[in-house]
Amino acid sequence: MRVLLGVTGGIAAYKVAMVVRRLKADGHAVRVIPTEASLNFVGRATWEALSGEPATTQTFDNVPSVEHVRLGQRADIVLVAPATADFLASAARGEARDLLGNALLATHAPVVFAPAMHTEMWNHPATVANVATLRTRGAHVIEPAVGRLTGPDSGPGRLPEPDEIVDALYAVAGDAGVVLEPSSETRPWGDLAGVSIVISAGGTREPIDAVRFLGNRSSGHQGFALAEAARERGARVTVVAANVQLPLGEGIARVDVESSEQLGAAVKSAAATADVVIMAAAVADFRPAAVSGTKLKKKADAGLTLELVQTEDILASLVRERRERQVIVGFAAETGDDAASAAAYARQKARRKGADLLVFNEVGATRGFGDVPNSVTFYDADGVAQGAASGTKLHVAHAVLDAIAQLAVSEQSLR
Ligand code: CTP
Repeated sequence: MRVLLGVTGGIAAYKVAMVVRRLKADGHAVRVIPTEASLNFVGRATWEALSGEPATTQTFDNVPSVEHVRLGQRADIVLVAPATADFLASAARGEARDLLGNALLATHAPVVFAPAMHTEMWNHPATVANVATLRTRGAHVIEPAVGRLTGPDSGPGRLPEPDEIVDALYAVAGDAGVVLEPSSETRPWGDLAGVSIVISAGGTREPIDAVRFLGNRSSGHQGFALAEAARERGARVTVVAANVQLPLGEGIARVDVESSEQLGAAVKSAAATADVVIMAAAVADFRPAAVSGTKLKKKADAGLTLELVQTEDILASLVRERRERQVIVGFAAETGDDAASAAAYARQKARRKGADLLVFNEVGATRGFGDVPNSVTFYDADGVAQGAASGTKLHVAHAVLDAIAQLAVSEQSLR
């Protein structure tokens, strides 16, 4: 199951590292949201290392993926341990002061609080009232253990031992009908968990002779941003990279190619088992009819005429040979001219290509290439605009994936 674990600012936070350990050992997916104050006791790196997931604190840390809502929505169960008196008060008031507060408001999952504080604070009428409020709303508040507290004091207020917390959590999950089986996916927190995505990126080079080629200005930034974003959202990602000089994050499979022919072969082979194919690469439309094995020599002052032939339209072939319910996405970098606007050409292309989604951006010699902000519109196979996004290439990548996830849900093709 997916456990959302809120850690608030008390010394007992250190014990909760063992809770994460046990949950992970039992095969569950744990996502930790520490409050800012709790980072004084246990740092973010500990939570990220133990859970294998990012541990974000602020509502505005990862806006493109709407984490403040998504995390709560996707949780099977929520545990807050340790829960301070201050956090219980905030939760009882329904406040959304930070990412954890937002997640609690956005969840329908059972919520378990494991309070830890001094006895006076636990027995204070304000805390007693807050706990009663939370319980009335259906939350489970574990009774603190009695024993040694911070400093010389002792009494009720101690965080129960990690195993007791986990057992209490499992009991609540069982009562609520949450399936306890371990999650089989590696990163099941994302909305694309278990989905396999192939992304082509970069620009092809069509050989002319042993040293020269016909190329284009595509840098691969947008395709790589898509790959990183898809991975972050749980997808299994394969990137077919045409001449891209950029690194890719861990856990993303990479196939490097040069020509359109190599790109076509690699993409089709990966597409045979993929749920989604995104053709973000700038593929050459023409290649030299013949490739010289040696460097072409200048002949006196004669010019050179190259004969070019059309390359295969890989996107069109993918659409034609698509697997059942496979989602196929194309990109169109267009320029306008006297006859029509760039957008009009993109709409025509969307109808001609027949991909589920065509992501259009207007380009020019100084627009659209490299690590610069992007502005895109999505068209469906009828050339009807389905949305738009602009911002960093990572922001655009998330917007494209949102559109894909929506398409996939409406076609019931994923999961
Ligand atoms: N594409 C492809 N194979 C090609 C050319 C392009 O798969 N031989 C894909 C690109 O990866 C992109 C989409 O088709 O997803 C649109 O590419 P673009 O170059 O804009 O379109 P073309 O098919 O080349 O159409 P035109 O020459 O009319 O602009």
